[in-house]
Amino acid sequence: MTPHNEAEKGDYAEVILLPGDPLRAKWIAENFLEGPRQVNGVRNCLGFTGKWQGVPVSVQATGMGQPSTGIYVHELLDVYGAKTLIRVGTCGGLSTRVKVRDIVLGAAVSTDSAMYKPTFAPFTYAPFADFELLRAADEYATGQMLESHVGGLLSSDMFYGGDPKKVFETVAAHNVLAVEMEAYTIYTLAARFKARALAICTVSDCLVTGEEITPEDRQSTLDSMVEMALTVGTR
Ligand code: HPA
Repeated sequence: MTPHNEAEKGDYAEVILLPGDPLRAKWIAENFLEGPRQVNGVRNCLGFTGKWQGVPVSVQATGMGQPSTGIYVHELLDVYGAKTLIRVGTCGGLSTRVKVRDIVLGAAVSTDSAMYKPTFAPFTYAPFADFELLRAADEYATGQMLESHVGGLLSSDMFYGGDPKKVFETVAAHNVLAVEMEAYTIYTLAARFKARALAICTVSDCLVTGEEITPEDRQSTLDSMVEMALTVGTR
């Protein structure tokens, strides 16, 4: 048990899917896992464990943003023995190369967060995806004919605020395809604890064109993302 998690050691599988939204975690557990049981309910940041095609798999919500994500992910790695972490979430497209509904596989992550600055000062750390997971996800996407892109993500602490247009244009010109809020911390902590991590994100809105995904598309793209995450995470 931890201050944020009531699960006992052994309650989580080594492979853990990480949506931001607790109700999404519940939905994934109920619709994809065999025999799912809730292992965490503290602060309603729900976690479940079940099996997928006979392999133990957990799903744990992270909440939004790196401070919240850092708490759950640190504990999953440090206390509960997580070995493979796959974020399944949404992102905002920054480049005209990506369209809404497309999937972005985060090869590396940039951030505006100060969370890890003291750890790496005077350098800037560039966390990156586990190559095996990234390659498997890319191959899966090709096999399933999904519109998917391998590129950079930006984990921003700001959903609202300022006029980020110019900096978004600059990062997009450096192969950063989309903005979300959690991947930087997941990759950094996975590296620290010698685990594997990948962020699989559906483009829910495009910050260049203003286009947004419909609720129906949100559901069908979530299905594809979860199937991709379960396939690559358990093989
Ligand atoms: N910003 C941050 N995270 C997001 C966005 C966004 O525009 N869209 C989906 N997740």
